[in-house]
Amino acid sequence: MKSEMSIMERIAEAAKSVTKGVDTGSVEHWVTIYVMGKGYRVPADLTILTAMEYAGYRFVRGVGCRQGFCGACSTVYRKEGDYKLQTGMACQTRVEDGMYLVQIPFAPAEKPAYNIADETFDAAVFLRFYPEVARCVSCNTCTKSCPQDLEVMDYVQAAIKGDFESLAEGSFDCIQCGLCAIRCPAEIVQYNVAQLGRRMFGRYGHSVPEHLSGRLEEIQAGKFDEEMDQLTRTPTEQLEVLYAGREREAD
Ligand code: FES
Repeated sequence: MKSEMSIMERIAEAAKSVTKGVDTGSVEHWVTIYVMGKGYRVPADLTILTAMEYAGYRFVRGVGCRQGFCGACSTVYRKEGDYKLQTGMACQTRVEDGMYLVQIPFAPAEKPAYNIADETFDAAVFLRFYPEVARCVSCNTCTKSCPQDLEVMDYVQAAIKGDFESLAEGSFDCIQCGLCAIRCPAEIVQYNVAQLGRRMFGRYGHSVPEHLSGRLEEIQAGKFDEEMDQLTRTPTEQLEVLYAGREREAD
């Protein structure tokens, strides 16, 4: 159906703020931030993400969970009078007075296709798919830029040595935001290197747990087919009740 709004009305609608419920009368502290050169006064306790929404920007891309987990909102900014480029997650970084924000294109994160079943479980796999790891100069910029406080440089070094276990453990909390890669002078895509390492470790570094192979056999034998079929026919409201009352592991 053709939209009844004109193109200009649609643009104006898309640009409306989605940050609601800010009672400005109760805001004690304000800061000024600059978005693409234009100054905005915003409440001091907002994150970059909510401050930009407060200023009228609406995020259609570059945002996801809003909780610091999905890695979609990685951001670069400068502070007033400071030459250094800072990085952070827009949904987790509090605005500061004189913060400058602009759009930047994302770094092209090289991600070659591979089939881990065809690879050997040694360090050569990293040199084959990510030869730039050999250019690591141990500058630690990747570690300093990680919003998860991961020891990124250490896990890259573990990859070079073929220490899959350290690599898998050290990168386990990576949210793939890409901030390490956009700062790396050697153009290493650390998070993709780590993903390859975790996949390899999962495939070759572990034996299949007994309970998992048992469950897979049950699935293949059709033990859950009827239950699954029933679930796919259950109305959403009923599914929500089932989900809320599901059996959970103790915390
Ligand atoms: S929106 Fe998901 S990490 Fe910020």
